Amino acid sequence: MHHPLSLALLLIVATPAWAHNGVKDPQVMARMTAMEHIGDAFQTLVSMAKQEVPLHQAKAHMARDTIVTHASTITTLFEAPATDAKSEALPNIWDNWADFSAKADDLTKAAQALDFKDRAALADTLGAVGSACRACHKPYREKK
Ligand code: HEC
Repeated sequence: MHHPLSLALLLIVATPAWAHNGVKDPQVMARMTAMEHIGDAFQTLVSMAKQEVPLHQAKAHMARDTIVTHASTITTLFEAPATDAKSEALPNIWDNWADFSAKADDLTKAAQALDFKDRAALADTLGAVGSACRACHKPYREKK
């Protein structure tokens, strides 16, 4: 059962690194920075899954750990309804806090379930991680 990596999955990480330039609110900056680390690590794994770079065990595990570590801070980082002109966070996050928190947990679990046995196993399990990103971005992140 090999799920091809969809274009939608790749678009998740298309936000350029300068997206949070000019952010003034430190709490907004902190949560964006955490997301950027998650995005970079995810991109590393996508490149390995797509065979753009070899599946490197130590780098793959490090990327997994980066996602798990930062995913586990999402609820703390987003708890305060901080705002900034540059923020893409939608205010319904704080009206649906239990659901938002559950979606953060889902990302942690999907990242913990990543399988690095071979490229196909990585591609399969990475699909669930990409779904966890989308499941939260769709309702809670503004499309710009
Ligand atoms: C529980 C919800 C949630 C999950 C899960 C989630 N995100 Fe996010 N993400 C957000 C929200 C909300 C924002 C907008 C934050 C803001 O602009 O204040 C965001 C922003 C981002 C950004 C832009 C950061 C910046 O510099 O502005 C990237 C990149 C990103 N997410 C990547 C990912 C990836 C990749 C995954 C999955 C591996 C993921 N996210 C999973 C909620 C989530």
